[in-house]
Amino acid sequence: MATPIIECIDLHKSFADHEVLKGINLKILTNEVVVIIGPSGSGKSTLLRCMNLLNEPTAGKVLFEGYDTSAKDIDINAVRSRMNMVFQNFNLFMHLTALENITLALQKVKKVPKKEAIVLATEALNRVGLTDKENAFPGQLSGGQQQRVAIARCVAMQPDAILFDEPTSALDPELIGEVLDVIKHLAETTGMTMVVVTHEMGFAREVADRVVVMDDGLIIEEGPPNEIFVNPKNERTRIFLRRVLKEIDDMDPLKPKYEGVTLEPEAPSVTFGEPQMMKDENPPSDQGPSGTLGRWFGFRGGRKKK
Ligand SMILES: Nc1ncnc2c1ncn2[C@@H]1O[C@H](COP(=O)(O)OP(=O)(O)OP(=O)(O)O)[C@@H](O)[C@H]1O
Ligand SMILES: [Mg+2]
Repeated sequence: MATPIIECIDLHKSFADHEVLKGINLKILTNEVVVIIGPSGSGKSTLLRCMNLLNEPTAGKVLFEGYDTSAKDIDINAVRSRMNMVFQNFNLFMHLTALENITLALQKVKKVPKKEAIVLATEALNRVGLTDKENAFPGQLSGGQQQRVAIARCVAMQPDAILFDEPTSALDPELIGEVLDVIKHLAETTGMTMVVVTHEMGFAREVADRVVVMDDGLIIEEGPPNEIFVNPKNERTRIFLRRVLKEIDDMDPLKPKYEGVTLEPEAPSVTFGEPQMMKDENPPSDQGPSGTLGRWFGFRGGRKKK
């Protein structure tokens, strides 16, 4: 088996006495697209943040390209530039143009000379279909375009892996598709390793090589999308998917049901615990599945990668 590019070994993370990750073991292989799904508060963002060194694990470790990221002499910026992250809320500098947002990251983090940074930034904007928006400020762009700039900033760094934390959940429904299209296109054309946390089940089904299901701080099931969505083995996965599908149905009875899902229509009603903030640092998203799924649009974007 190929060496994993990212490996979590018995990863635990607690905030005060609240254990959020309870022993995660996960290997992400080079060129793999792994989609992480699961109820709100199950620890998906915390897992990504531990991978990217934004949260320090309480126990266990994360290996990146075989190196222990908790090692004292690790260069955190170097790790982050090679395992770059796209956030829900874009995190763009509002006083800089689209191009400058990208060149700044290249110059500051990767020490790329300005001229070269401009070339790389222009190429990256081309890739996400924003060639004509180089000189626009974020405030002059739609949410979808801002997220595409954030993705271009990530891509321009030429990372080995990109982590996406609900990249479309802050967007209006009509803008979700364009961002998912860009991510899918990148997956297909660059073969870049991607870990995507999302509530967009259509996207997960279509683009993922592997779907990982989290619940209550643990991975409860993982496998190819066809297995997870058509014939999930874990009862909690079935309950989660039923609830997701029910919310989509409730939202709009005319919307087609998720293709290929064969779960029985009568879903038991289950409530998952609300996320609780224990500490005020980096509060997690307040948009659980219902917030995001309320705006779900079936992702119907052409060919599957492989
Ligand atoms: N910085 C923090 N301080 C205290 N508690 C936190 C912090 N970050 C996350 N948590 C808690 O950890 C749990 C998991 O949060 P996390 O954001 O990882 O869940 P999630 O699966 O990403 O949820 P969602 O789908 O709503 O984004 C929640 O109970 C949350 O309140
Ligand atoms: Mg989250």
